[in-house]
Amino acid sequence: MSRIILAPMEGLADNILRDCLTQIGGIDLCVTEFIRVTTQLLPPKVFHRLCPELANGCKTPAGIPVRIQLLGSDPEALAANAVRALELGSPGIDLNFGCPAKTVNRSQGGAVLLQEPKRVAHIIATVRHAIGDDAWLSAKMRLGFATKDLALENAQRIQGAGANELTVHARTKVEGYRPPAHWQWIKKIRQVVEIPVIANGEVWTPQDYAACRKASGSEDVMVGRGLVWKPDLALQIRHQRAGQPVQEWSWPALVPTVLYFIDLVDAQVAVKFQDARVKQWLKLLGRVYPQANACFEQGKRLKTLNELRSLVIHSQ
Ligand SMILES: Cc1cc2nc3c(=O)[nH]c(=O)nc-3n(C[C@H](O)[C@H](O)[C@H](O)COP(=O)(O)O)c2cc1C
Repeated sequence: MSRIILAPMEGLADNILRDCLTQIGGIDLCVTEFIRVTTQLLPPKVFHRLCPELANGCKTPAGIPVRIQLLGSDPEALAANAVRALELGSPGIDLNFGCPAKTVNRSQGGAVLLQEPKRVAHIIATVRHAIGDDAWLSAKMRLGFATKDLALENAQRIQGAGANELTVHARTKVEGYRPPAHWQWIKKIRQVVEIPVIANGEVWTPQDYAACRKASGSEDVMVGRGLVWKPDLALQIRHQRAGQPVQEWSWPALVPTVLYFIDLVDAQVAVKFQDARVKQWLKLLGRVYPQANACFEQGKRLKTLNELRSLVIHSQ
Protein backbone atom coordinates (compact mmCIF):
# COMPACT_ATOMS: atom_id res chain seq x y z
CA MET A 1 0.00 0.00 0.00
CA SER A 2 1.26 3.47 -0.83
CA ARG A 3 2.35 5.29 2.28
CA ILE A 4 2.20 8.94 3.21
CA ILE A 5 5.05 9.89 5.49
CA LEU A 6 5.20 13.03 7.62
CA ALA A 7 8.51 14.76 6.87
CA PRO A 8 11.00 15.55 9.60
CA MET A 9 10.82 19.29 10.32
CA GLU A 10 13.11 20.72 12.96
CA GLY A 11 11.44 23.31 15.18
CA LEU A 12 8.04 22.51 13.72
CA ALA A 13 7.05 18.84 13.58
CA ASP A 14 7.78 17.86 17.17
CA ASN A 15 5.85 15.23 19.10
CA ILE A 16 3.02 17.70 19.75
CA LEU A 17 2.36 18.42 16.09
CA ARG A 18 2.96 14.74 15.20
CA ASP A 19 0.28 13.82 17.75
CA CYS A 20 -2.22 16.34 16.30
CA LEU A 21 -1.59 15.44 12.66
CA THR A 22 -1.65 11.69 13.16
CA GLN A 23 -4.93 11.97 15.15
CA ILE A 24 -6.49 13.50 12.05
CA GLY A 25 -5.36 10.54 10.00
CA GLY A 26 -3.95 9.48 6.66
CA ILE A 27 -0.30 9.49 7.82
CA ASP A 28 1.45 6.10 7.91
CA LEU A 29 4.84 6.99 9.39
CA CYS A 30 6.58 9.95 11.02
CA VAL A 31 10.27 10.84 11.15
CA THR A 32 11.62 12.88 14.08
CA GLU A 33 13.36 16.23 13.81
CA PHE A 34 17.06 15.52 13.36
CA ILE A 35 19.11 14.60 16.40
CA ARG A 36 22.49 16.27 15.95
CA VAL A 37 25.43 13.92 16.48
CA THR A 38 28.96 15.31 16.78
CA THR A 39 31.48 12.96 18.35
CA GLN A 40 29.65 11.81 21.47
CA LEU A 41 27.29 9.02 22.36
CA LEU A 42 24.26 11.02 23.45
CA PRO A 43 22.50 10.24 26.72
CA PRO A 44 19.06 8.60 26.50
CA LYS A 45 17.39 11.81 27.70
CA VAL A 46 18.30 13.54 24.41
CA PHE A 47 16.52 10.82 22.45
CA HIS A 48 13.51 11.00 24.77
CA ARG A 49 13.37 14.79 24.46
CA LEU A 50 13.24 14.74 20.66
CA CYS A 51 11.19 11.56 20.51
CA PRO A 52 8.94 11.32 23.59
CA GLU A 53 7.03 8.64 21.68
CA LEU A 54 9.83 6.24 22.78
CA ALA A 55 7.86 5.88 26.02
CA ASN A 56 4.88 4.70 23.98
CA GLY A 57 6.51 1.99 21.86
CA CYS A 58 7.78 4.74 19.54
CA LYS A 59 4.27 5.41 18.28
CA THR A 60 2.20 8.57 18.42
CA PRO A 61 -0.91 8.36 20.64
CA ALA A 62 -2.83 7.55 17.43
CA GLY A 63 -0.59 4.49 16.98
CA ILE A 64 1.53 5.74 14.07
CA PRO A 65 5.21 4.68 14.18
CA VAL A 66 7.93 7.29 14.54
CA ARG A 67 11.46 6.74 13.20
CA ILE A 68 14.43 8.59 14.70
CA GLN A 69 16.56 10.71 12.37
CA LEU A 70 20.24 11.36 13.02
CA LEU A 71 22.39 14.07 11.47
CA GLY A 72 26.15 14.25 11.50
CA SER A 73 29.29 13.23 9.68
CA ASP A 74 31.30 11.17 12.16
CA PRO A 75 30.61 7.58 11.09
CA GLU A 76 31.51 5.95 14.41
CA ALA A 77 29.52 8.45 16.45
CA LEU A 78 26.52 8.07 14.16
CA ALA A 79 26.82 4.29 14.44
CA ALA A 80 26.96 4.35 18.25
CA ASN A 81 23.96 6.67 18.44
CA ALA A 82 22.04 4.59 15.92
CA VAL A 83 22.56 1.51 18.10
CA ARG A 84 21.34 3.47 21.10
CA ALA A 85 18.24 4.78 19.29
CA LEU A 86 17.32 1.22 18.32
CA GLU A 87 17.93 -0.06 21.86
CA LEU A 88 15.63 2.67 23.16
CA GLY A 89 12.91 1.46 20.80
CA SER A 90 13.09 3.34 17.50
CA PRO A 91 11.73 1.11 14.72
CA GLY A 92 14.63 2.09 12.46
CA ILE A 93 17.12 4.84 11.78
CA ASP A 94 16.96 7.62 9.21
CA LEU A 95 20.17 9.43 8.28
CA ASN A 96 19.93 13.03 7.10
CA PHE A 97 21.94 14.03 4.00
CA GLY A 98 19.73 16.95 3.09
CA CYS A 99 19.90 19.60 5.76
CA PRO A 100 20.86 22.96 4.24
CA ALA A 101 21.48 24.88 7.48
CA LYS A 102 24.78 26.76 7.49
CA THR A 103 25.85 25.74 10.98
CA VAL A 104 25.13 22.12 10.15
CA ASN A 105 27.19 22.30 6.98
CA ARG A 106 30.11 23.92 8.79
CA SER A 107 30.20 20.89 11.05
CA GLN A 108 30.03 18.69 7.94
CA GLY A 109 26.59 17.19 8.27
CA GLY A 110 23.55 17.32 6.01
CA ALA A 111 23.59 18.27 2.34
CA VAL A 112 27.27 19.24 2.22
CA LEU A 113 28.16 15.53 2.38
CA LEU A 114 26.46 14.96 -0.98
CA GLN A 115 29.57 16.45 -2.58
CA GLU A 116 31.48 13.41 -1.38
CA PRO A 117 29.52 10.25 -2.26
CA LYS A 118 32.24 7.99 -0.88
CA ARG A 119 31.92 9.64 2.52
CA VAL A 120 28.16 9.19 2.40
CA ALA A 121 28.70 5.50 1.62
CA HIS A 122 31.23 5.13 4.41
CA ILE A 123 28.78 6.60 6.91
CA ILE A 124 25.96 4.30 5.80
CA ALA A 125 28.21 1.24 5.80
CA THR A 126 29.55 2.01 9.28
CA VAL A 127 26.06 2.48 10.67
CA ARG A 128 24.84 -0.68 8.92
CA HIS A 129 27.71 -2.70 10.33
CA ALA A 130 26.96 -1.49 13.87
CA ILE A 131 23.19 -2.03 13.81
CA GLY A 132 23.26 -5.41 12.04
CA ASP A 133 21.47 -6.63 8.96
CA ASP A 134 17.98 -6.80 10.43
CA ALA A 135 17.57 -3.19 11.57
CA TRP A 136 15.81 -0.79 9.22
CA LEU A 137 18.09 1.92 7.86
CA SER A 138 16.88 4.71 5.63
CA ALA A 139 18.57 7.81 4.25
CA LYS A 140 17.19 11.16 3.16
CA MET A 141 19.00 13.17 0.51
CA ARG A 142 18.58 16.20 -1.70
CA LEU A 143 19.52 16.03 -5.39
CA GLY A 144 22.91 17.49 -4.58
CA PHE A 145 24.64 20.46 -3.04
CA ALA A 146 25.13 22.99 -5.85
CA THR A 147 24.42 20.73 -8.85
CA LYS A 148 22.62 17.48 -9.53
CA ASP A 149 25.69 15.79 -11.06
CA LEU A 150 26.19 13.39 -8.19
CA ALA A 151 22.53 12.56 -7.52
CA LEU A 152 22.62 9.12 -9.14
CA GLU A 153 26.00 8.21 -7.69
CA ASN A 154 24.91 9.20 -4.19
CA ALA A 155 21.74 7.13 -4.48
CA GLN A 156 23.65 4.11 -5.78
CA ARG A 157 26.24 4.35 -3.05
CA ILE A 158 23.55 4.75 -0.40
CA GLN A 159 21.99 1.53 -1.65
CA GLY A 160 25.34 -0.23 -2.07
CA ALA A 161 26.37 0.61 1.50
CA GLY A 162 23.30 -1.07 2.92
CA ALA A 163 20.35 1.34 3.23
CA ASN A 164 16.91 -0.28 2.98
CA GLU A 165 15.14 2.80 1.69
CA LEU A 166 15.87 6.29 0.36
CA THR A 167 13.86 9.50 0.54
CA VAL A 168 14.68 12.11 -2.09
CA HIS A 169 13.82 15.78 -1.54
CA ALA A 170 13.88 16.70 -5.19
CA ARG A 171 15.99 19.87 -5.04
CA THR A 172 19.62 20.72 -4.46
CA LYS A 173 20.77 22.50 -1.34
CA VAL A 174 21.32 25.66 -3.38
CA GLU A 175 17.74 25.48 -4.69
CA GLY A 176 16.64 25.69 -1.06
CA TYR A 177 12.86 25.56 -0.90
CA ARG A 178 12.24 27.34 -4.22
CA PRO A 179 9.62 25.63 -6.37
CA PRO A 180 9.58 23.51 -8.40
CA ALA A 181 10.66 20.21 -6.91
CA HIS A 182 12.21 18.15 -9.71
CA TRP A 183 10.12 15.00 -9.33
CA GLN A 184 11.37 13.61 -12.66
CA TRP A 185 14.83 13.35 -11.08
CA ILE A 186 13.37 10.92 -8.57
CA LYS A 187 12.40 8.72 -11.51
CA LYS A 188 15.99 8.87 -12.80
CA ILE A 189 17.19 7.78 -9.37
CA ARG A 190 14.62 4.98 -9.23
CA GLN A 191 16.00 3.67 -12.50
CA VAL A 192 19.46 3.11 -11.01
CA VAL A 193 18.53 1.63 -7.60
CA GLU A 194 16.34 -1.22 -6.46
CA ILE A 195 15.50 -0.07 -2.93
CA PRO A 196 12.22 1.83 -2.50
CA VAL A 197 12.57 5.55 -3.19
CA ILE A 198 10.21 7.89 -1.34
CA ALA A 199 9.38 11.07 -3.25
CA ASN A 200 9.43 14.42 -1.42
CA GLY A 201 8.92 18.09 -2.17
CA GLU A 202 6.12 20.55 -3.01
CA VAL A 203 3.08 18.38 -2.37
CA TRP A 204 0.37 20.81 -1.26
CA THR A 205 -2.80 19.24 -2.70
CA PRO A 206 -4.14 15.81 -3.70
CA GLN A 207 -3.46 16.90 -7.31
CA ASP A 208 0.20 17.56 -6.48
CA TYR A 209 0.35 14.14 -4.82
CA ALA A 210 -0.96 12.44 -7.96
CA ALA A 211 1.38 14.46 -10.19
CA CYS A 212 4.35 13.69 -7.95
CA ARG A 213 3.63 9.96 -8.00
CA LYS A 214 3.22 10.02 -11.75
CA ALA A 215 6.41 11.97 -12.45
CA SER A 216 8.53 10.07 -9.93
CA GLY A 217 6.94 6.66 -10.24
CA SER A 218 7.33 6.35 -6.47
CA GLU A 219 4.85 4.39 -4.39
CA ASP A 220 5.43 6.39 -1.21
CA VAL A 221 5.39 10.15 -0.76
CA MET A 222 6.76 12.22 2.12
CA VAL A 223 4.91 15.46 2.85
CA GLY A 224 6.20 18.28 5.02
CA ARG A 225 4.87 21.81 4.93
CA GLY A 226 1.68 20.83 3.09
CA LEU A 227 0.54 18.86 6.14
CA VAL A 228 1.31 21.69 8.52
CA TRP A 229 -0.73 24.19 6.52
CA LYS A 230 -3.51 21.73 5.66
CA PRO A 231 -3.62 19.17 8.47
CA ASP A 232 -6.24 17.07 6.68
CA LEU A 233 -4.17 16.79 3.48
CA ALA A 234 -3.23 13.14 4.04
CA LEU A 235 -6.91 12.33 4.60
CA GLN A 236 -7.84 14.18 1.41
CA ILE A 237 -5.23 12.17 -0.48
CA ARG A 238 -6.52 8.94 0.98
CA HIS A 239 -10.07 9.79 -0.12
CA GLN A 240 -8.87 10.69 -3.59
CA ARG A 241 -6.97 7.41 -3.84
CA ALA A 242 -10.09 5.49 -2.84
CA GLY A 243 -12.06 7.28 -5.54
CA GLN A 244 -14.18 9.02 -2.90
CA PRO A 245 -15.13 12.70 -3.05
CA VAL A 246 -12.40 14.87 -1.56
CA GLN A 247 -13.78 17.13 1.14
CA GLU A 248 -11.54 19.75 2.65
CA TRP A 249 -11.98 20.41 6.34
CA SER A 250 -13.53 23.73 7.22
CA TRP A 251 -11.98 25.87 9.95
CA PRO A 252 -14.66 24.87 12.52
CA ALA A 253 -13.81 21.21 11.82
CA LEU A 254 -10.15 21.94 12.58
CA VAL A 255 -10.69 24.03 15.71
CA PRO A 256 -10.85 21.04 18.12
CA THR A 257 -7.42 19.94 16.84
CA VAL A 258 -6.00 23.43 17.35
CA LEU A 259 -7.43 23.52 20.89
CA TYR A 260 -5.92 20.07 21.54
CA PHE A 261 -2.59 21.44 20.26
CA ILE A 262 -2.86 24.35 22.73
CA ASP A 263 -3.57 21.91 25.58
CA LEU A 264 -0.48 19.87 24.66
CA VAL A 265 1.66 23.01 24.48
CA ASP A 266 0.27 24.02 27.89
CA ALA A 267 1.25 20.66 29.37
CA GLN A 268 4.62 20.11 27.68
CA VAL A 269 6.30 23.38 26.67
CA ALA A 270 8.11 25.79 29.00
CA VAL A 271 5.85 28.76 29.75
CA LYS A 272 8.11 31.36 28.12
CA PHE A 273 7.95 29.55 24.75
CA GLN A 274 4.27 28.59 24.80
CA ASP A 275 2.73 31.60 23.04
CA ALA A 276 5.32 31.44 20.24
CA ARG A 277 4.54 27.78 19.53
CA VAL A 278 0.83 28.48 19.18
CA LYS A 279 1.36 31.63 17.08
CA GLN A 280 3.76 29.73 14.79
CA TRP A 281 1.09 27.19 13.82
CA LEU A 282 -1.71 29.79 13.61
CA LYS A 283 0.44 31.81 11.20
CA LEU A 284 1.09 28.78 8.96
CA LEU A 285 -2.56 27.67 9.10
CA GLY A 286 -3.43 31.24 8.18
CA ARG A 287 -2.11 30.63 4.66
CA VAL A 288 -5.07 28.35 4.09
CA TYR A 289 -7.65 29.42 6.67
CA PRO A 290 -8.48 33.15 6.90
CA GLN A 291 -9.87 32.56 10.40
CA ALA A 292 -6.49 31.25 11.56
CA ASN A 293 -4.85 34.30 10.05
CA ALA A 294 -7.30 36.52 11.93
CA CYS A 295 -6.44 34.69 15.18
CA PHE A 296 -2.75 35.21 14.45
CA GLU A 297 -3.16 38.92 13.70
CA GLN A 298 -5.36 39.55 16.74
CA GLY A 299 -3.22 37.33 18.96
CA LYS A 300 0.21 38.65 17.97
CA ARG A 301 0.69 40.61 21.17
CA LEU A 302 -1.11 38.23 23.49
CA LYS A 303 1.09 36.22 25.80
CA THR A 304 -1.06 33.70 27.63
CA LEU A 305 -2.45 30.47 26.30
CA ASN A 306 -5.85 31.26 27.81
CA GLU A 307 -6.11 34.41 25.71
CA LEU A 308 -5.05 32.54 22.57
CA ARG A 309 -7.40 29.67 23.37
CA SER A 310 -10.29 32.09 23.72
CA LEU A 311 -9.46 33.70 20.35
CA VAL A 312 -9.52 30.31 18.65
CA ILE A 313 -12.79 29.29 20.33
CA HIS A 314 -14.47 32.52 19.20
CA SER A 315 -13.10 32.31 15.65
CA GLN A 316 -15.59 29.67 14.50
C1 LIG B 1 11.01 24.04 9.14
C2 LIG B 1 11.65 22.87 8.44
C3 LIG B 1 12.49 22.02 9.14
C4 LIG B 1 13.08 20.90 8.51
N1 LIG B 1 13.84 20.04 9.25
C5 LIG B 1 14.29 18.89 8.67
C6 LIG B 1 14.97 17.89 9.44
O1 LIG B 1 15.11 18.00 10.67
N2 LIG B 1 15.42 16.79 8.79
C7 LIG B 1 15.25 16.62 7.43
O2 LIG B 1 15.67 15.59 6.89
N3 LIG B 1 14.59 17.52 6.69
C8 LIG B 1 14.10 18.64 7.28
N4 LIG B 1 13.38 19.53 6.53
C9 LIG B 1 13.07 19.22 5.11
C10 LIG B 1 11.73 18.48 5.02
O3 LIG B 1 11.80 17.21 5.64
C11 LIG B 1 11.31 18.27 3.54
O4 LIG B 1 12.32 17.55 2.89
C12 LIG B 1 11.10 19.60 2.81
O5 LIG B 1 10.33 20.51 3.60
C13 LIG B 1 10.40 19.39 1.46
O6 LIG B 1 9.13 18.83 1.63
P1 LIG B 1 7.79 19.71 1.54
O7 LIG B 1 7.86 20.50 0.26
O8 LIG B 1 6.67 18.69 1.55
O9 LIG B 1 7.77 20.62 2.75
C14 LIG B 1 12.81 20.66 7.14
C15 LIG B 1 11.97 21.53 6.43
C16 LIG B 1 11.38 22.61 7.06
C17 LIG B 1 10.45 23.51 6.27
